[in-house]
Amino acid sequence: MRRIAFLSVLLSVLVFATRAPAHAQQPAASTAQIPPTETNPTWWKNAVIYEIYPRSFQDSNGDGIGDLNGITSRLDYLQKLGVNAVWLTPIYPSPQVDFGYDISNYEAIDPQYGTMADFDHLVAEARKRHIGIVMDLVLNHTSDQHPWFKESASSRTNPKADWYMWRDPKMVNGHREPPNNWISDFGGSAWQWDPARQQYYYHEYYVQQPDLNWNNPQVRKAMYDVARFWIRHGVIGFRLDAITSLFEDPQDRNEPYILGPDGKPRIDAFGDKEVEDIYTDDLPEVHDVLRQLRQVTDEASGGKAVLIGETYLRSIADLRKMYGAGNDELQLPMDMQVGFINKLDVPLFRKRINDAETKLGGDEPLFVFDNHDNPRWDRYQLNAEGAPDFGYRPYHDDIGRVIATVLFASRDTAMMYYGDAIGMVTTPPTRKEDVRDPIGIRGWPKEKGRDGERTPMQWNAGPDAGFSPPGIKTWLPIPPSYRTVNVAAEEREPDSMLRWYQQIMALKKDDPALHEGEEMMLNTADDHVLSWLRKAPDGEAVVVACNFTAQPQTVSLNLAAQGVQGTHLKTLIKTPGAPDPAALDLQLGPYGVYVGQVSQDRR
Ligand code: NOJ
Repeated sequence: MRRIAFLSVLLSVLVFATRAPAHAQQPAASTAQIPPTETNPTWWKNAVIYEIYPRSFQDSNGDGIGDLNGITSRLDYLQKLGVNAVWLTPIYPSPQVDFGYDISNYEAIDPQYGTMADFDHLVAEARKRHIGIVMDLVLNHTSDQHPWFKESASSRTNPKADWYMWRDPKMVNGHREPPNNWISDFGGSAWQWDPARQQYYYHEYYVQQPDLNWNNPQVRKAMYDVARFWIRHGVIGFRLDAITSLFEDPQDRNEPYILGPDGKPRIDAFGDKEVEDIYTDDLPEVHDVLRQLRQVTDEASGGKAVLIGETYLRSIADLRKMYGAGNDELQLPMDMQVGFINKLDVPLFRKRINDAETKLGGDEPLFVFDNHDNPRWDRYQLNAEGAPDFGYRPYHDDIGRVIATVLFASRDTAMMYYGDAIGMVTTPPTRKEDVRDPIGIRGWPKEKGRDGERTPMQWNAGPDAGFSPPGIKTWLPIPPSYRTVNVAAEEREPDSMLRWYQQIMALKKDDPALHEGEEMMLNTADDHVLSWLRKAPDGEAVVVACNFTAQPQTVSLNLAAQGVQGTHLKTLIKTPGAPDPAALDLQLGPYGVYVGQVSQDRR
């Protein structure tokens, strides 16, 4: 089953009304120094990690594809935003079947993104701005063009014969069949016949992405050496791709089918019978690898490198295991359970955030709402039928403020995606012939692929949105929204999405309660407004309230229940145009947000 969360959304009908014009109250963006990653071993706690999809961030050489020098030229923007670390999706040499997630050399840079000297320059320039670089480490599979796979496929006896998952066919009535019913996340059987070896190999993703055999100690050593190599080049951590999928059932058992209401197996967007991935995902063997890898990265980096996991898991209990019983595995497994709820459901958000606060044993949650595999946060905006609406509609910015506030005003490390801060909208292709992501080509029209969330960054209203030099054909089209949704315009506009992000991110960094204070839910019987309290070690208390509905709401905050004294609120940030609260009573407009410090008087 494809572990890309969005497809599971089932949403209720919401009706939109037009909102009143907004006037902002504007706290200044922070000018404080970001704590340096290189001297602080727990720099990643309460930090902001910004994902860049390098193809789409900034093209410096006019080939229509973003590159490393382009990223370096935009570091000032990231520093001003308040970013602590940048996660780069893969920039290694690759045939680009899966746009870099099919790696053919783990210790070099793909020429279309630049050179190793460009990379070192990026790391050095980022460091000057107190920004660390996090590499994407793809451990589960390589490209079929990697020399390891070519050698492995060359015979059953070569030195790397056992580096990948090779299996004999199952013979049924004299016919050759794959060993079992496992399916690829990207469509079709997960087994590919190799005529030279007369065997199948396993690929969780594309045919061109064969899975490595992690039971082989040589594979482990080779990959641990890759991690050491990049730490020597100054990276401050790794995002571990598909990390829960490293191991498969040693007995190759069939996975159970997921049945529909008619009792028959459900069919996915690719036409395959859906299976529950109990034998191909989250097997316990992965923990041994995580402990080893953590030792390697701790040793090579002096304890400063962070391991971030791509961890779409079934429950908070499963997530907790990824930190390791002795806190010796991942520092930051991604919590996909909050950000990918995919509907503004107050009780569900309350429960999941509270679970992260109380059921991770005090470990740091990593919340994430957006990445290069899922529609952007505008998926939370629904049309009259209750389906996601990617257009630029009346409540777009209001919902964006809600999402940004949940992300940055919770006790968490926050992961954001390029374009989020300006409110870039998901722009899926409308014709099959325009699709670039192979899963969109294979799954069209039910599965349109991931191009919609990978469009070029919108820097300004000029030609090519400032992404490429004027007149260049960019690798994906620039969405029409760039004329108004862009960095330059939003820097000028006091009520813009970008200004909200700058301010709420500055509060996360500078306000002690919002930076590190414990978190407690307030008014827990309210199904319309999610409100919570952050309490700093020195006693400073801040309340946060987000209206999850299109109707105005009134809230009387019950602070006494959390043992907090206070009769008034001092506004830190609120939806443009909203009134200041009277005592502890808030008036929130449609999708209105309020953040304020608790005080004993009116000052
Ligand atoms: C997860 C990555 O985020 C996605 O983009 C990629 O296609 C798969 N893993 C396979 O590497």
